[in-house]
Amino acid sequence: MRKLSQSLDRPIVLVGLMGAGKSTVGRRLARRLGLPFIDSDQAIEDAAGLSAGELFERFGDKDFRDGERRVVARLVDEGDIRVIATGGGAYVDPATREMLNQRAITVWLDAPIDILAERTGRRDTRPLLRDGNRARTLERLSKERESAYSQAHIRIRSGEGAHRDVVDSVLEAVDAYLDSLVGAGPGPSSDSGPDANDRSAPA
Ligand code: S3P
Repeated sequence: MRKLSQSLDRPIVLVGLMGAGKSTVGRRLARRLGLPFIDSDQAIEDAAGLSAGELFERFGDKDFRDGERRVVARLVDEGDIRVIATGGGAYVDPATREMLNQRAITVWLDAPIDILAERTGRRDTRPLLRDGNRARTLERLSKERESAYSQAHIRIRSGEGAHRDVVDSVLEAVDAYLDSLVGAGPGPSSDSGPDANDRSAPA
């Protein structure tokens, strides 16, 4: 994937619901491309000295999103070509979404609710999932957020398959996306909506 990492002129940013595998896939993707990896929740934690979950609980959705917007903008402003995993709500914020779509390649990792529920059940670090039924909450968030996530340049449907397969699908889709931009002028093409690059990782 040397060629791909050389033709990248922007960061790759992973978006999607909690449990979609943004951090795990992002870390592996970065390794395959020989690029640095950064997790926006981790960057928030480094800046604030509290975990994203604790900050969310303490300050509430609006203040958390304001801080998250600044941190994600800083990560992109730094200008390094790298892989960035975002917290599940970051891309839902309209200003963050617009900035990311202009200045990065955005990839929606889309996984079925039962898989998200199973994965997020392994650790109790997400305030949004603490009350009630995890699967039902994820289902609701999925409905509320789908129209935002679907604005990502690339959609990768992942199932129970290995993360390695998801990484392969992302690499192929990013390659195809960059090819689709050749001749389309600078910046992301408005013709390259999510359908143009809708991929499934092998289940
Ligand atoms: C959130 C997702 C979390 C974290 C916070 C809010 C969300 O990140 O930012 O708890 O609104 O979906 P992960 O998607 O990395 O779990």
